[in-house]
Amino acid sequence: MSQAFPEHFLWGGATAANQCEGGYNEDGKGLSTADIMTAGSHDVQREITKEVIKGRYYPSHLAIDHYHRFEEDIALFAEMGFKCYRMSINWTRIFPQGDEKEPNEAGLRYYDKVFEACQKHGIEPLVTLSHFETPLGLLKYGSWTDRRVVDFYLNYSEVMFKRYKGKVKYWITFNEINVMSTKSWMAGGIDSDDEQVRMTAAYHQFLASAKAVQMAHQIDPENKVGMMYAGHFSYPNSCDPEDVQANDDFMHKMLFYCDVQCRGYYPAYKLKEFEREGIVLPTQDGDTEELVRGKVDFLSYSYYLTHVVGKETDLVMKGLNGVKTGYNNPYLPTTEWGWTINPMGLRYSLNLLYDRYQIPLMIVENGMGAVDRLEEDGTVHDDYRINYLREHIQEMKKAINVDGVPVLGYTMWSPVDIISASTGEMKKRYGLIYVDVDDQGEGTYKRVRKDSFYWYKKVILSNGEYL
Ligand code: BG6
Repeated sequence: MSQAFPEHFLWGGATAANQCEGGYNEDGKGLSTADIMTAGSHDVQREITKEVIKGRYYPSHLAIDHYHRFEEDIALFAEMGFKCYRMSINWTRIFPQGDEKEPNEAGLRYYDKVFEACQKHGIEPLVTLSHFETPLGLLKYGSWTDRRVVDFYLNYSEVMFKRYKGKVKYWITFNEINVMSTKSWMAGGIDSDDEQVRMTAAYHQFLASAKAVQMAHQIDPENKVGMMYAGHFSYPNSCDPEDVQANDDFMHKMLFYCDVQCRGYYPAYKLKEFEREGIVLPTQDGDTEELVRGKVDFLSYSYYLTHVVGKETDLVMKGLNGVKTGYNNPYLPTTEWGWTINPMGLRYSLNLLYDRYQIPLMIVENGMGAVDRLEEDGTVHDDYRINYLREHIQEMKKAINVDGVPVLGYTMWSPVDIISASTGEMKKRYGLIYVDVDDQGEGTYKRVRKDSFYWYKKVILSNGEYL
């Protein structure tokens, strides 16, 4: 494939505040849902403690100390030629409890500096307003099950849109909003498997997102606001029509989140399911219009793996933020954490989403979690990660050049090693930059360029010609 990527393609990387910043109680920051999650592993679930318990280890508290080292990190991103840096604002730095009327100036000053650093290096920020960081202070309302939380979120969003007008143009309202159906604690501080509870919370997030989209456009018509889907894509286990139907049912459970945010209304199949299950949405007058008016400008998503689903699939809510499929795909290798590696699936997913919604897409997470070895000479040879990224980018290129899918950009996960969201581990590394810290937070925190760092730099410099 000789054609390169579109001019102004947003090459870059993505992080989340709770996974990289640390400084969990500095400068007035309050606690978020991430700050009471202990470390786990591939086999051990992270525990959600009700409060911070002395003696327990919470990975978000120190993370990789990006809070104090963001200038060094952003300079390294710039060295790779990043055009775009996807990051999240830690809501509890701005509104420590979530329900204050006035923001915390120290928190705002921190992000002022982060955006100045981006500007200095010509990097376009892409900002997620809520990335698994709901203020714990909102739990007293029942978190997202309570409509008042929509207003708290909008108050926060308004402060963001006004303060960063002219500095930030690309926004994402909620990270992986469909995680509400898999790991609802991460998605919004909901510790419940009850479908009524989850669907009420999701409804309020849809409403909050729709109102935030409109607000962002009013405050600055230059703003582009997207939704973010946890890339669940699955194949039927066989051509048995029952497997195909089961697979379709699974995809509906995930894709309805995109349907609502891209089309502005609930799909018929979901409303029928609610009817059957006796689920009632907390709709109020005017909401239907809000959802339509608040359709997103673009659809962004994470893409790591694909599932296989069939009539006998026992879906266990583990794995990619929640879902482990009942069948392995015999055609695909897996990572050390059991995630299938499927580059062709990326092209498939881009086509599926574009066929369905016809709006611009963006890959805002894609990468490989692996155990890396820091050699004595200070190098890290991560050819497996280079292969993973290369093969995925090649497939994205086909989707653009062969299939004509409009893709705005690609921010791989993650430019620098950070805490794993699902396991809380450090050793599940995704970075192009190695961080010398272990699963207990021990280490020098020194940053080391991996082989993939130099490779990605060439990819960006050639606008995807070199892969
Ligand atoms: C995405 C999340 O689902 O997957 C990130 O948005 C997360 O927060 C990423 O880090 C990779 O998953 P994990 O669990 O390996 O860190």
